[in-house]
Amino acid sequence: MLPRNHPVRICAGLVVRLLGSGRNYLRLARLRRAGLHCTGTIYVHPLARFSDPSNVTIGANCNIGKAFFYALDKISIGDRSIVGENVLLCTGSHDIYAADFRLVTKPIAVGRCVWIATGATILPGVRIGDGAVVGAMAVVSRDVPAGAVVIGNPARVVRNGRAMPEGFNPLGLASLDIESSIRRLANAFRGPPKAKS
Ligand SMILES: CC(C)(COP(=O)(O)OP(=O)(O)OC[C@H]1O[C@@H](n2cnc3c(N)ncnc32)[C@H](O)[C@@H]1OP(=O)(O)O)[C@@H](O)C(=O)NCCC(=O)NCCS
Repeated sequence: MLPRNHPVRICAGLVVRLLGSGRNYLRLARLRRAGLHCTGTIYVHPLARFSDPSNVTIGANCNIGKAFFYALDKISIGDRSIVGENVLLCTGSHDIYAADFRLVTKPIAVGRCVWIATGATILPGVRIGDGAVVGAMAVVSRDVPAGAVVIGNPARVVRNGRAMPEGFNPLGLASLDIESSIRRLANAFRGPPKAKS
């Protein structure tokens, strides 16, 4: 097995990233044509679903997993946020006391640098503050303050004051970080830094 920093291995990684980026670009173009508002580069998992892309706005450098955006109302996601696998963002419910069981929709607003972990459900009208974390399988029915960590069903705050990871780019998780591959390749050819005499 070639070492991690071998130029051949870095080149192979670069090819994989370029192919992944190409496919992601085409997926994004299709979603944009369907009305998705997106202010920069994002990664969208091939199996992510959007009931109505035109109701969804996603900020730059977000990583969207195999989630379902049930967008009967607006859904907005701030920059550098992660929406994990099997997350449901649900903007619709019914008035269970009305004779006609009428549909009720409310928007969902997710801040910047938020992580919504595996299997979480976000219910209609919820706002999640910047830097918050929603734990795996949480069911979020009330607003989440900025920097809070919530877990459970119904989700409750277990920690506060999480600092936003400023240097972190969620696109790196999706193996789309072509720049870092190129940097590593350049370093591999440059060789180890010379010791000062
Ligand atoms: C929310 C989360 C980030 C919290 O991490 P943490 O602060 O390190 O929490 P800890 O592991 O120290 O757990 C603290 C307590 O919360 C409980 N807990 C942690 N996550 C929980 C969750 N999602 N649901 C219910 N309880 C949870 C733990 O059992 C522990 O309980 P205890 O104190 O009674 O033993 C993490 O547990 C989580 O849900 N991660 C998501 C995993 C995931 O989706 N991975 C996929 C992508 S990599």
